[in-house]
Amino acid sequence: MRRKFIAGNWKMNGDQELVRQIAERAADSAGEAELAVCPPYPLLPAAASQLPFGVALGAQDVSEYDSGAYTGEVSASMLLEAGCRYVIVGHSERRTLYAEDNARVAGKFQAARQAGLIPILCVGETLAERDAQRTEAVVGEQLSAVFDAVDGAAFQGAVIAYEPVWAIGTGRTATPEQAQAVHAFIRGRVAERDGQDVADSLQILYGGSMKPDNAGELLAQPDIDGGLIGGASLDPEGFLSIYNAAAEG
Ligand code: PGA
Repeated sequence: MRRKFIAGNWKMNGDQELVRQIAERAADSAGEAELAVCPPYPLLPAAASQLPFGVALGAQDVSEYDSGAYTGEVSASMLLEAGCRYVIVGHSERRTLYAEDNARVAGKFQAARQAGLIPILCVGETLAERDAQRTEAVVGEQLSAVFDAVDGAAFQGAVIAYEPVWAIGTGRTATPEQAQAVHAFIRGRVAERDGQDVADSLQILYGGSMKPDNAGELLAQPDIDGGLIGGASLDPEGFLSIYNAAAEG
C-alpha cells in the first residue's frame, strides 16, 4: 500500500511568516500521509529549523552539475546539506519559461538521485497536445528521457507528478477520470521498464489546481497517490485541509 503524499510548491512566493504559519499548523495535523513544502531557496534554512519533525523539505529546482562556474545555480549536494529530502525537477514553468528540455530535466533528475535527494519529476501535456490526442505521446517522451539517462530502475525511490499544463494555476482541474487515466498510463510505463515492484511502490502525484474542494475525489482514484499543490499551498489552512483529506483517505 502506497502512502499518500502532499507537497506544496510555493513557486516564487512566501516569506518567513508563511513558514511560521505552516510550521504551526502542520504540528497539529500529523497523520498517516507524508507532507512536504518546497519554498524558494532563501527560505530553506528557516523552514528546516521550524518545520515539525515529519514534515519534509524540498527545493523547486536543482542544477544538473555538481559544482563549478554556473552562476545562479544550486547543486543537489547543497540542497541536501540545507535539509532537503526532495527536489522538484522539470516543472512545466521551468520547461516553458526557462526552456528546459527533456535531456536537461533528465540530467537534473540524475543529479538529484546521485546526491541522495528524492526527485519529484513533473510531466504533463499542454492543452493543444491534449486536444491533438498526444497526451500519452508527450508524457511517454518525458518519461523516456529519464529512462535513457539512468541505468537500472530509474524510478525506484523517486516520485512523479502528473501536471497537465492547462490545469496549472488556471483553476481548471483535470477530472478525476482524466487524471486517473494518465496516472495509470505512467505506472504502466514504469512497470514495463523498471518492473512491477517499482511501479507498484511509486508515488504518482496529481498537480494542477488541486484545492480543498476537489482534493478528495482526485485522491480517491486508485493511481493518484497525492498532490503537488501550487496556489493552494500558500494558504496554510487550505493546504493542511488537503493534507487531512489525504491522511484520512
Ligand atoms: P497550482 O500549481 O496548484 O497552482 O495549479 C501546481 C504546480 O504548478 O505544481
